[in-house]
Amino acid sequence: MRNLLLRYTDGMARYVATADEAPLLDIEELGRLAITDDISLDEIAGLHEGAALALSDQGVPINRPEIIRRMSACLSALMVSAAVAYRTKIDLLEQHRQQERDRTERDRQRLETLGQFVGSVAHELNNLLQPVRGMTEIMLADLAEGRSPERADLETVEACAIQAVGVIQGILGYVRRETIAPQSLAFGAAVATACTFIRPMLREPFAVAIRDRDTEVLALQGELTQILLNLLQNAVQAGATRMRVEVDRIDGDRPAGGARPRMRLRVIDDGQGMSAAVAARALDPYFTTKATGQGTGLGLAIVRSIVVGWSGDLQLDSEPGRGTTVTLLLPVHAG
Ligand SMILES: Nc1ncnc2c1ncn2[C@@H]1O[C@H](COP(=O)(O)OP(=O)(O)O)[C@@H](O)[C@H]1O
Ligand SMILES: [Mg+2]
Repeated sequence: MRNLLLRYTDGMARYVATADEAPLLDIEELGRLAITDDISLDEIAGLHEGAALALSDQGVPINRPEIIRRMSACLSALMVSAAVAYRTKIDLLEQHRQQERDRTERDRQRLETLGQFVGSVAHELNNLLQPVRGMTEIMLADLAEGRSPERADLETVEACAIQAVGVIQGILGYVRRETIAPQSLAFGAAVATACTFIRPMLREPFAVAIRDRDTEVLALQGELTQILLNLLQNAVQAGATRMRVEVDRIDGDRPAGGARPRMRLRVIDDGQGMSAAVAARALDPYFTTKATGQGTGLGLAIVRSIVVGWSGDLQLDSEPGRGTTVTLLLPVHAG
């Protein structure tokens, strides 16, 4: 402000003395600058008073009509340029806001279209899976009782089809924002089952350590498989050479009994890890760092939405070059 006042006073002193146009151009420049510096129009107008006082102190006869006229010319140069700059700034801001609004609207439409697309694909797949299930059931019924390799193979086909239906139901639920009420599930055992299904689908091996098989939580087997598949696929895509699925029970270390017991599922990998910026957005729907066709950015968003539906928590621990641990915490279901 002080700097502006000095420059304005200087410009005005020169114009008052000479009536030469150059100081007016300086003053116009000053008006634009003041707006860029976020100085209010009131404050800018206030400069004039300060400058007039300064001129009077310097002995300039500021009451003389000719001087008054020249001083007014200074004030109008200052205010007109400030007003124009102000208008431009507002227009730019408004333009920017409009662009933001357009972008949000485009994003929303894109999400909606994608959601519809994913929904219809899931629906198609679901229809295709029904005959697979039906036929396997019929073939199983037709097969002679007793253990045969064919029976074991068919049972695997059937179990996979059932799991696939579960996975698709999960996607449909997510897209339609429907939720199927979770059921009481022996969590460790359910994770072990899910891992058995996932093993043949994943090209990399992974270790499983279930430290508690029987404690129950509210969850759904099909969705659990989907969660583990998503997490393990991410680990493989992050170049992990070692992956581990762990389940344990946490009873809370506060003796007063404040913390509720929870089941913890961890998927630990030694892949490339995530930067803080990536980790901060990793759970956002459609956020992906992968090439087109490699990732949809929906994996972790679906995982989170399922876990939240089970009243659980999801945590990411990741560091570039050191791998990633995804932790799920689910309240123990008593009774
Ligand atoms: N285990 C992991 N290791 C490193 N980065 C990961 C891991 N899991 C997720 N990410 C990062 O989070 C992003 C979002 O993951 P996700 O929601 O599963 O979508 P997608 O796998 O389709 O990209 C990934 O693109 C990746 O950058
Ligand atoms: Mg993924």
